[in-house]
Amino acid sequence: MNPHSHAATGGDAHISQYNDRNSSRDLGKESQCHLSLAQQINSASRKGHDTVNRLIMARFALGLQDHRLYREGILSFAFVYKSFEEEWAALLSSESTTVDPRIRNALQRLYSIPLLRTPQIAKDLQYFYGSTPFSTEFPTTPQRTAYVNHIRNVIAEKPHVLIAYAYNYYMALFAGGKILGYQMSKAKGFFPEHYGMTEEERIGAGMNIFNFEIEKGGEIGLRDSFKGALLDLESTLTMAEKNDIIEESEAIYSKNVLIIKELDRLCAHIIATTTITTARKQLWNDTHKFLSFFAVLACFLIGKHVINYL
Ligand code: HEM
Repeated sequence: MNPHSHAATGGDAHISQYNDRNSSRDLGKESQCHLSLAQQINSASRKGHDTVNRLIMARFALGLQDHRLYREGILSFAFVYKSFEEEWAALLSSESTTVDPRIRNALQRLYSIPLLRTPQIAKDLQYFYGSTPFSTEFPTTPQRTAYVNHIRNVIAEKPHVLIAYAYNYYMALFAGGKILGYQMSKAKGFFPEHYGMTEEERIGAGMNIFNFEIEKGGEIGLRDSFKGALLDLESTLTMAEKNDIIEESEAIYSKNVLIIKELDRLCAHIIATTTITTARKQLWNDTHKFLSFFAVLACFLIGKHVINYL
């Protein structure tokens, strides 16, 4: 995929690129069985993906005008990645004895440290929040809290659905993430000043979410080895487990819609408080000018009075 061409053509244009999704979408149930798990996920979640895609693209340009809006957005996704990546590490840890060794093995084969986003997003948040306090410890908004609880509960109940989170949230970075990253890197004046960093340094400091700590040019290999591992292990999953993964993928897109709608409210609040602060500043400036004028006038009149008196 050429991110440049997508970026140039705008939000909806890339929808025609969904050949994979579209080609499998209209096939009957029988043909679907011949599709890989990844293709079945894409097919089942095509509608949800298109909705999320449209919602994000419609807001991303606004986010690139004010880093406080953008950072609010990645904060929401920080909670998502953190919760499933933490659950994943816990399931693989030697203390975890509850998970079926077959599923544990599947999850182990997919686990890839360079794909983990929690440490990368943490760096972005650090840069964008600077000295403004923020926390990724516990979510405090209703939708973030509900989603984090859902992720932790559903993984505890059905550890294999972790595959839905890994597939959708990691593959997103190699598809839509490339488009968003390209647009972001070109957004003039977006990256806030930070301890005398150059423009290039600031871009690097704020785009870790889209970058992988691997040697240059290794990204495609990273994506392909994830996909390859998924293809190899899917025969170890039962039909019921695969269905759970497909259903959870559909749920992921519905939850994303709720997260985005909540962001609308959070960002509206940020914009409103900025407007109020700006209005207050303007009022103060006007009052200040008015008072200064009277002070000068008073001095002049008093001075004149004193001169006359003398
Ligand atoms: C939370 C949001 C999103 C998630 C979880 C997500 C997930 C995915 C997944 C799993 C794929 C399939 C990857 C593959 O088959 O290799 C995909 C493909 C794609 N996504 Fe997204 N995506 C999201 C948002 C977006 C956005 C905002 C855009 C637009 C910029 C976008 C554009 C694309 C494109 C162009 C493809 C490639 C389709 C193809 O080549 O078949 N996605 N996405």
